[in-house]
Parts: sequence; C-alpha cells; structure tokens
Amino acid sequence: MTSAHDMDMNIAPFDVVGVRADFPILTRTMRGKPLVFLDSAASAQKPRQVIDAMHDVYEREYANVHRGLYEISEAVTARYEGVRETIRGFINAAHTHEIIFTRNATESINLVAASYGRAFLEEGDEVIISELEHHSNIVPWQMLRDEKGVVLRVAPISDDGELVMSEFEKLLGSRTKLVALAHMSNVLGTILPVAEITRLAHAAGAKVLLDGCQSVTHMPVDVREIGCDFYVFSGHKLYGPSGIGVLYAREDLLEAMPPYMGGGDMIASVTFEKTTWAKLPHKFEAGTPAIAQAIGLGAAIDYVSALGLEQIGAHEQDILNYGTQQLSSIDGLHLVGTAPAKASVLSFTLDCAHPHDIATVIDRAGVAVRAGHHCAQPLMARLDIPATVRASIGMYNTRADIDVLVTALGEVLEIFG
Ligand code: ALA
Repeated sequence: MTSAHDMDMNIAPFDVVGVRADFPILTRTMRGKPLVFLDSAASAQKPRQVIDAMHDVYEREYANVHRGLYEISEAVTARYEGVRETIRGFINAAHTHEIIFTRNATESINLVAASYGRAFLEEGDEVIISELEHHSNIVPWQMLRDEKGVVLRVAPISDDGELVMSEFEKLLGSRTKLVALAHMSNVLGTILPVAEITRLAHAAGAKVLLDGCQSVTHMPVDVREIGCDFYVFSGHKLYGPSGIGVLYAREDLLEAMPPYMGGGDMIASVTFEKTTWAKLPHKFEAGTPAIAQAIGLGAAIDYVSALGLEQIGAHEQDILNYGTQQLSSIDGLHLVGTAPAKASVLSFTLDCAHPHDIATVIDRAGVAVRAGHHCAQPLMARLDIPATVRASIGMYNTRADIDVLVTALGEVLEIFG
C-alpha cells in the first residue's frame, strides 16, 4: 500500500482551484473574512456533487429500500446497493457483501466488539490497542473487558508519535486475540505500518481491526494488500454526509459472527418461536438504513476517486510540509506529532496561550481549527499536555490557508505573548 508519505511527488498537478469551486461553503465569509477551514479531520466539507446526489434522492427517487415492489423503491434500492459495490472497489474488498453500512466508524467498532468480541473472546484473552487511539477504539474494548474479563494491552508510542514496534511485538502472544489500531492518528497524523502490524499479529494468531477514519481520505487503501480482518471508516470525513459509516470484514468472519442488532431487514424468517438471519450483508443491517446518506457517500467516493487518492495525498503533503515549516518558525510553538510517516495534521501548543483561547482568537480571522483533547484523552496524558490546537488539511486547502493561520497566530502572540 502506498502511504501519503511515500508518494511520488512528481504526479500530475492537482487542480485545487477547481476542487475549491466544487465546495459551496468555501465561498462563505466569516465576519467579512474568507472561511479558512482547517478542521477536516473532525468532519470534512461536502462538494456540490454530494449535496446534489442527496438532494436528487429526496426530490426524485426517495422510498424505502429492499421493501417496495414499485419503481421508485426498486430504483433507489439499486442506487443504494450500487454504493456498496463502489465501496468494495474503493478499498478493494473481495466481495460486495463484506461491506456493512453503519452510522459511523464508532458504530462499526462497537459492532465488532459486541458481535465478534462477545462471541469469540473469552476471559483472559487479550486485545492490543495503542496509546494514540481515539476514544472510539478504546471504550468499546473496555466495555468488553468489563463484561467478559478480556485483558486490554496498550502498545506505547515514542515522543514523536510513532508506534514503538519492538514494544508492540513484545505484547503479542498466545493470548492475543485481536489487535485494534488506528491506521492514522487523528491527533498526530502518524501513519502506522499496518501491513507489517497485520503480518505480525496474524503470525501470533490474532485478528486485526484498523480504524481508517483518517486514512481513507488521504491515501489509497487496499484491505487485501494490508491483509487486515476488519477495516472501519466514516462517511463524513470522506467528504460525504454524516450518519453513514462502513465496516469491512472478511466474509468468513461475518458469516461466523452473530447479528449486532435485531429488527426488520436482518431476518430470513420470524415466528414467535424462532428467527433466522438474512444473508450477508443484511444480517448486520437491522431497520431502515441511512438511504440518502449512503448515496451521498457513494457520490463522495466517486468524487475523490475521480481526482485520485495519490493526487489528493500529494497535494495535502505539500500543504503539510509548508505548514510544518511555517509553524516551526513561530517562537514558543511546539508541534505535537513529528513522525516521519504522517499526513495532513498539524497539532501544536503555544507556550503563551491555552489551545481553546488560540482557537477562539483565530476564529476571528475566519480560521476554523479544533482545540482540545480530540477524543484522545489517554494520548494527552501520555504526552503530558491537556490539549492541542489541531489544524487539519483537506484536499481543498492551500498554502494561502496556512499563511492566514500563521498571521492569525501572530495576533494570538500579540494578545498573550
Ligand atoms: N474524531 C474526530 C476528530 O478527530 C471527531 O476531530
């Protein structure tokens, strides 16, 4: 798999002006200043193509899916199921029925913990996570620990934000049943060596779950090349709508796993005495799904695929490198997360001001960043800081956005410095 870090920087130039024109919100002004949106790691903005696809569903072709024997329902069902195939191709899964629609990556991880975890993990079995995980890849495993007596092991990171592979390897053993890690850190930008991690985990007999929320937007992902067993991501960070997420899992695992939720659409037959399950993928999709959101996600994937993830990644890497250089020249600014393999995230602290104050001041200049613990409190504890400011780069950002950020930080220094 190619990481954004390794990418050939000589690939075709990226038409950022054309891309920006596709995102209506980027024409907004904030108190008379152009919006500089540097919070795509929290949730990305949506191109016109995604907004139009959802609008079109509601205006022309809305009905429930899998249920209606009339034209509109059949047409929207075909569009909805077509997105499953789009996602399969996007991450190169072997089968369309290995793609499960969820609400978001958090629900995907909870599904695996509640279904696979409850069914196949026993007291004393070990789950390895790492110090850089988002709460969504910590709390579901703690809940499983409290319910089943599973042991949670935490692989350490180095001060620059890399997973310490030698320590990770030491944690692997005969009791390791699952390794659950972020593919890319939402706070540090670190890209983990997931193919190597998967190889080592499999050699120890463990399954591998990867949280791809941050990575799928910046680099091509091939789940078969990585070899992982589970891969999860959300639609809203991938320029699609919120309320739709993806769980990829290998067919044999999904076949063996019990349903996560019961209800309509996930059954083959129901009597008061006994219920049998629908075939994959529907066994895991109880209730009316997020129909327009799935179609919006399909439009988002078509959009990024047409541009090319290598091209997007290379463009963002240029902005990241420029941002790293510019921020490093500010006195009293400390970049948090300096791993050589990283993408699209500039986390930092300033000696003179709290991250919340920094975010509030630069908002006046139209700059939107996230400040806080970024749903990664254990990582903040590991780094011994309460919070960071995080400027995260999407495909529509430019070097000029970084310049506005740097100028706005100058105002922070004037106020607090
Ligand atoms: N996980 C999202 C973030 O990093 C919300 O901001």
